[in-house]
Amino acid sequence: MNGFHLKNNRWYSDGVALSQIAKKAGTPCYVYSLPAFEAKYMEVDQAYRSVPHLVAYSIKTNDNLSVIHALGKLGSGTDVVSGGELFKARKAGIPGNKIIFAGVAKTDAEIAYALKENIRYFNVESIPEISAINSVAKKMGKTAPIAIRFNPNIDALTHHFISTGKKENKFGIFLGDLDEVMHTVRKSTSVHWTGVHAHIGSQMTQTGSLAKSARVVEQIVLKLRQEGFPIYDVNLGGGYGIDYNGEKPPKASQYASVVMPVIKRLKAGLILELGRFISGNSGVLLTRVVFVKKSGKKTFYIVDAGMGDLIRPALYEAYHRISRAEGPQKPVQTADVVGPICESTDFFAKNRRLPEAKRGDLMVIFSAGAYGSVMGSTYNSRPLSPEVVTRGSRFAVARRRQTREDLVRLEKFVL
Ligand SMILES: Cc1ncc(COP(=O)(O)O)c(C=O)c1O
Repeated sequence: MNGFHLKNNRWYSDGVALSQIAKKAGTPCYVYSLPAFEAKYMEVDQAYRSVPHLVAYSIKTNDNLSVIHALGKLGSGTDVVSGGELFKARKAGIPGNKIIFAGVAKTDAEIAYALKENIRYFNVESIPEISAINSVAKKMGKTAPIAIRFNPNIDALTHHFISTGKKENKFGIFLGDLDEVMHTVRKSTSVHWTGVHAHIGSQMTQTGSLAKSARVVEQIVLKLRQEGFPIYDVNLGGGYGIDYNGEKPPKASQYASVVMPVIKRLKAGLILELGRFISGNSGVLLTRVVFVKKSGKKTFYIVDAGMGDLIRPALYEAYHRISRAEGPQKPVQTADVVGPICESTDFFAKNRRLPEAKRGDLMVIFSAGAYGSVMGSTYNSRPLSPEVVTRGSRFAVARRRQTREDLVRLEKFVL
């Protein structure tokens, strides 16, 4: 069986008991099911099989090399937002022509690096960026392929911190600036404009906003083609939602049903920058109870993972299911699950009905495959946790735990 499942009161990743992994790798520890990543990638790929498309997996959600490599073997490209992510994508074997470079603040050095790697195109987020890419490309004697990201001012109906397509968001170019964009591209002889991009937010759990955005993009593409720009690639987000807490997000095929008519009418190629949908429920965080603390009427399960491992609850008050890795699963105790870090925001659950747990018990924090380890920090000088991958009955440490020596490796005594 793929992914995470419960058998005889024991949680497994594929065919491996999570308790077995914790014994070997210690805690806290991320566990990723490679077949789960692959299945979600295939679900998207299949949903769009009747149009030319590229799934550019957003490695901002999970940039583990073994994960990127496994998806790359299935044909996945990557969406990167920094020179570092570009480096990791290339390291994992993703060819330059399947890499999309997004992000609002690309430096000249990053632009030059991407041009050297012959990426598929830049997702351009502002008018000054068109000029910057043009001048770097000119100096290198190259022509830079670009897509322009427009801000359609559409509400993705998601958490306001992960909305990206409203006019107050920093992403994309204001639709009213279309003439200026065309003017700037026309005089930029070292860029080649072939794509239009819109992304309205992450964790969308309905298709209505995406349908609206697709219609806006269709009008932009038609206008640009009339103006003589050979627009082919249409890059249409946001990110498809996943089940964290009983949400019932649409399937990939349901999102596809609102996108495909537009792509077919335009005879365009589709780019999908998806992260969470592929990675979110393909990973968990394992952590051990250090103490059970009673404080008046409150019970705290104090665990050895903290916001340095998984910051989503602190950052967005995000909900993650939590249970015991083995033993009775019935929720019988109301508790806060908190970490070891000296911040009151260092929590994973508040006033949650949970199974009874005692010192030393192994807990599983679910849906931690996206925006988990990638947002890790060493705050409180806590080494980064390892990442373990599973496939069938096998597991392996894909990224080792940081050591205390690692924590001081970049420093020296000065002055
Ligand atoms: C432009 C862009 N592309 C891709 C993503 C990945 O989104 P998700 O993880 O929801 O698929 C994001 C996330 O916000 C984004 O802003």
